[in-house]
Amino acid sequence: MEFAIETIDLVKRYPTTARRGREGHFHLGPARVGRVESFTGMLKIIKGIKGPFIEALRGVNIKIKKGEIFGVLGPNGAGKTTLIKILCTLVIHDEGEAYVNGFDVRSEPNQVLKNLQAVLPESRGFNWRLTGRQNLEFYALLYGLNEKESKDRIDFLLDFTGLKERADDYYQRYSTGMQRKLLLCRSLLRNTPILLFDEPTVGLDPTSAAEFRDLLYKKLAHEEKKTILLSTHNLFEAQNICDRIAILDRGKITACDTPNNIRYLMFDEKVFNITFIDATYDDERQKMIDELEEIKGVHGVTPEIDPDGNFHEISIRVDKNMDFASILDVVMKSGLKIRTINTKEPTLEDAFMAITRQNAEPQNNLSFG
Ligand SMILES: Nc1ncnc2c1ncn2[C@@H]1O[C@H](COP(=O)(O)OP(=O)(O)OP(=O)(O)O)[C@@H](O)[C@H]1O
Ligand SMILES: [Mg+2]
Repeated sequence: MEFAIETIDLVKRYPTTARRGREGHFHLGPARVGRVESFTGMLKIIKGIKGPFIEALRGVNIKIKKGEIFGVLGPNGAGKTTLIKILCTLVIHDEGEAYVNGFDVRSEPNQVLKNLQAVLPESRGFNWRLTGRQNLEFYALLYGLNEKESKDRIDFLLDFTGLKERADDYYQRYSTGMQRKLLLCRSLLRNTPILLFDEPTVGLDPTSAAEFRDLLYKKLAHEEKKTILLSTHNLFEAQNICDRIAILDRGKITACDTPNNIRYLMFDEKVFNITFIDATYDDERQKMIDELEEIKGVHGVTPEIDPDGNFHEISIRVDKNMDFASILDVVMKSGLKIRTINTKEPTLEDAFMAITRQNAEPQNNLSFG
């Protein structure tokens, strides 16, 4: 099967502290000056390889199917932007392979760019003194669209993104959200099947962010059948719009699955909370608790009883796949009046914190290449 995006053991190193000295030579940092620590070290100096390096990506393997919305989650400095920049040929990787619709990003960049468009938050390139529409016309010209194609596509995109009403306002009058939408219009001018977004909703207010997510999810992915790779810090966003997500942590993928499976990767239980009306704790209630503990799949039962003997609430920790019926049977049989029933499931945030904490062994990403 040909994937929309595939990377194999992708490695990217950035040189770190090498600075040009007065004589125009590179200093390699105090530990590296005047000493050759090993034969390979000497080889690197002879071959002119500078170090130390930050390993921004340390063997990344992802396979994104056509039509998928794939999210990359990760803390600051995890390598998300680097991955996106490699895929859109802005950065060249050091080791491994990366393919876009089967085209090699290193040896076939022109083919890659015909298939994919990246939307980076730092990209602007709009003229403040032109209108939104004029800015798009300028880019359409650059991309080689003829007049008719350009007009049709721009009309369609302005309508598609909800920017039509303000299309003839100067760009300088646009709000951040409108600027972002214009950027989206620009990236859709060429109508490529794959889109990459680096933190698409950062800096947008909640309403604009929700609108933007809708645009990605409903219009681009479902109506236009685009393949979308997006990086985000927003766990809610990842949970709600991505078919699958990968957690990238210091250059390595530490988990890759559907948001729901990721939520349960680190936790194998959920908690049912039941609150009661006017209940007092007595032998009968204890019998119910014992009975609940006997049920297969129940991991533990914690009653909340105040000093006056009022029985307010019970928390039942159960297997993640367990349904509520057998528990409800026992509680109903006891004759207690139920006020509320809640299920507490691990959130994507719980999983993200647990996964990144689990892998937080002391290490830095420095290498000497
Ligand atoms: N041009 C560069 N030169 C040197 N180091 C770089 C360069 N670009 C990125 N890095 C380093 O590579 C690592 C990964 O950076 P990257 O920007 O890919 O992370 P990120 O996951 O996008 O982070 P953020 O969430 O903060 O945007 C970081 O340690 C960063 O300092
Ligand atoms: Mg980034």
